[in-house]
Amino acid sequence: MTNNSLILERLHKQKLCFSGFPTPLQKMPRLSKVLGGPRLFVKRDDMTDLAYGGNKARKLEFLFADAKNNGADVMISVGAIQSNCACMVASASRRLGMKPVLVLVGKEPEVPDGNLLLDKLLSADIHFLDDYGPHVDEYINKLANEYRAKGHCPYVIPAGASAPFTVPGYALAMEELINQFKKTGEKMDAVVCACGTGGTQAGLIFGAKLLDVTAKILGVSVFATRADASNTIVRLVNGAAELFDLDLSIAPDDVAVFDEYIKEGYGILNKDVTQALKLVAETEGIFIDPVYTGKAMVMLMDQIKKGNFNKDDNIVFFHTGGLPALFLYRSELGKI
Ligand SMILES: Cc1ncc(COP(=O)(O)O)c(C=O)c1O
Repeated sequence: MTNNSLILERLHKQKLCFSGFPTPLQKMPRLSKVLGGPRLFVKRDDMTDLAYGGNKARKLEFLFADAKNNGADVMISVGAIQSNCACMVASASRRLGMKPVLVLVGKEPEVPDGNLLLDKLLSADIHFLDDYGPHVDEYINKLANEYRAKGHCPYVIPAGASAPFTVPGYALAMEELINQFKKTGEKMDAVVCACGTGGTQAGLIFGAKLLDVTAKILGVSVFATRADASNTIVRLVNGAAELFDLDLSIAPDDVAVFDEYIKEGYGILNKDVTQALKLVAETEGIFIDPVYTGKAMVMLMDQIKKGNFNKDDNIVFFHTGGLPALFLYRSELGKI
């Protein structure tokens, strides 16, 4: 590829700059030692500031910049009751003097906890819907129209803040990571991240292509099958390439996603995840979450155990946040 620095410069210019970047890249020597495996690093995207941090901040920079350009003053986000994305949208909205409106799917609990508690502290206008289906989009359209009728300018955030338009968020994270590795003089062999709506892994792949990075980018799906997750990521990467007029494309076989760590299902804790959370905390003093990073860590530990990494490999684990939900698992986690 030619002129990649110009492309990256263009992406930088569209950012809004919430604070917190670059996020730290830290070594995890005690965890590496216990696992008897490769050199492990953690990229602290749980320190991106908004609502206790997480991966959505990098994507939201692009969406909020667009919203501002369009004169928006009301930000509408949809997700599950404990959506990390919705909570970060609410936090970013308040940071920028906009009104957060959240459409949360699931039954409203008697006592708000985790992200929902934070949503309430942020005084988001919260609407609860019982289940997912086409009626969710209809409800959002109706809400947006109601706000328009009151003289507001609403902006709807896509689910998980993933869209071709936000893929550059994690391309820039890849650039950040490469610059951090350059300073240490070490090579990077693989990057591990949780995969939900696919935007994080898509961005890392997009960035790796632009920067000629050969490290493996390994995603760990938390709900979609490998085929579905790969297709989503292909659509995001190729969509971003089209949007930025780049001669770049990938196919499903270019995407490495594991789906065998979903186990009992999305958000369901199991023994392996509990042990992973505990081991990372007791070796490195770092908390990971039960829904996303916990499952990604189980994959990393399992692949090390299976001998699928070399001892001198440098592996980066992306900590993508999700910590407010940790406390919802108190009854299971409290037993260990
Ligand atoms: C904490 C956390 N990690 C990882 C992910 C997955 O990111 P993506 O949706 O970009 O695949 C999410 C998505 O909701 C998340 O909240």
